[in-house]
Amino acid sequence: MLPSDLVKYKKNSQKIIALTAWDSISGSIAEQANVDLVLVGDSLAMVCLGYKSTLPLTLGNIIYHTNAVSRGFKKNIEEQPLVIADMPFLTYQCGEDKAVEYAGKIIQSTYAKAVKIEGAEPEIQKVISRLIRMGIPVMGHIGLTPQSYLNLGLKKQGESLESQEKIKKEASILEKLGCFSIVLEHIPDLLAKEIQNTLTIPTIGIGAGNYCDGQVRVTADLLGLNDDQPPFCQPIIQGKELFMKKLKEWVESERLN
Ligand code: KIV
Repeated sequence: MLPSDLVKYKKNSQKIIALTAWDSISGSIAEQANVDLVLVGDSLAMVCLGYKSTLPLTLGNIIYHTNAVSRGFKKNIEEQPLVIADMPFLTYQCGEDKAVEYAGKIIQSTYAKAVKIEGAEPEIQKVISRLIRMGIPVMGHIGLTPQSYLNLGLKKQGESLESQEKIKKEASILEKLGCFSIVLEHIPDLLAKEIQNTLTIPTIGIGAGNYCDGQVRVTADLLGLNDDQPPFCQPIIQGKELFMKKLKEWVESERLN
């Protein structure tokens, strides 16, 4: 599947389901769960590498983990989920030339078929437009953008009218620039609905209600493996509790053997 194929999902009102992955086990689980796309998100900095934010993640980290994810896939290449890799902090904020070099490196040395970029400021718009012209598909990401948490915090975006207008404008700009889809993170449901209705490219929501054309979740949050659960992700199981109970039972039983 190519990134541009996702537009067909929207045309056919077929929901796009995505999970994040950070290593070959999570990649394999996501593939076997039959998701349409796997995002190697920079949330791996926190979920997998123990950092307190996504900012420390490097280009080398994302390439290393994206390759690990693809090695976990078992299906034929045509049936594997589409892989999208996040551009880490500082790989696209320092100008178009560097962004092309770093995004190109990701595409050249992994099986990712697109990159995801946070924000829609004028400098970022130039980067996105250049990447797309250079043959690198881009997924946008607006609303809560964790790489800007030092400025914006990690709070819900789009609460004020002004913020809603800004997000709607950004969504339309990203579509015009040629993004093949947009992640909407932690914004009001009705704002996401309005954006979803206006755009021809698919919106993929996380903490943005059920009206988006697709949903993405950080797999560790969905499985309840994290101690710090974001308020907008309801786990489907209490994975950590479940594993700890069984592991403690195993440890105790082995001690007695
Ligand atoms: O890094 C990530 O996991 C993401 C998702 C929250 C969309 O960007």
